[in-house]
Amino acid sequence: MKAAILFESLTGHTRVAGELIAANLQQQGWGITGVSPVRHPEMLSIQDADVVIVGTWVHGLFVVGQAPWGLGAIAGLPALRGKLAATYCTFALNPAKTLDKLDAAVSRLGADVIGGLALHRSKLPAHAEEFASRLVANVPVAASRQ
Ligand SMILES: Cc1cc2nc3c(=O)[nH]c(=O)nc-3n(C[C@H](O)[C@H](O)[C@H](O)COP(=O)(O)O)c2cc1C
Repeated sequence: MKAAILFESLTGHTRVAGELIAANLQQQGWGITGVSPVRHPEMLSIQDADVVIVGTWVHGLFVVGQAPWGLGAIAGLPALRGKLAATYCTFALNPAKTLDKLDAAVSRLGADVIGGLALHRSKLPAHAEEFASRLVANVPVAASRQ
């Protein structure tokens, strides 16, 4: 399987998470077509990928109003029809329904979103490994449904 990773990041955690996810997927035998910012996506990396992974960070008032940052930029990504997608967000305290909102935004691009994970910013290596393992386990099942 080949994956493209697209991230939206202000202070770097979500970018680092994307790089860690890429490294973990490669260790499990996947190819990575690119790791690029949502606002400057590598178009070829998206085109060449079977799975597109979209990550952003949680913005809110920490206990209320949490939402994925950059939904406008995510809505401006190219169409993902025919592709599987997975999502992640990084957070400090509580992601609330951020992933559901991110999944809905990525679904609107036409992708078949198979799920996502919220990664605590202080546990990125462990949570990125968890994300990659779950993805590798779930993609063959999802791909067989397509
Ligand atoms: C303005 C602002 C609002 C934030 N709101 C929340 C929040 O509501 N809940 C939460 O868990 N983290 C919140 N965070 C923390 C970020 O989601 C977290 O630090 C994230 O990893 C940042 O990603 P980045 O380094 O890629 O920009 C907020 C951060 C900022 C700067």
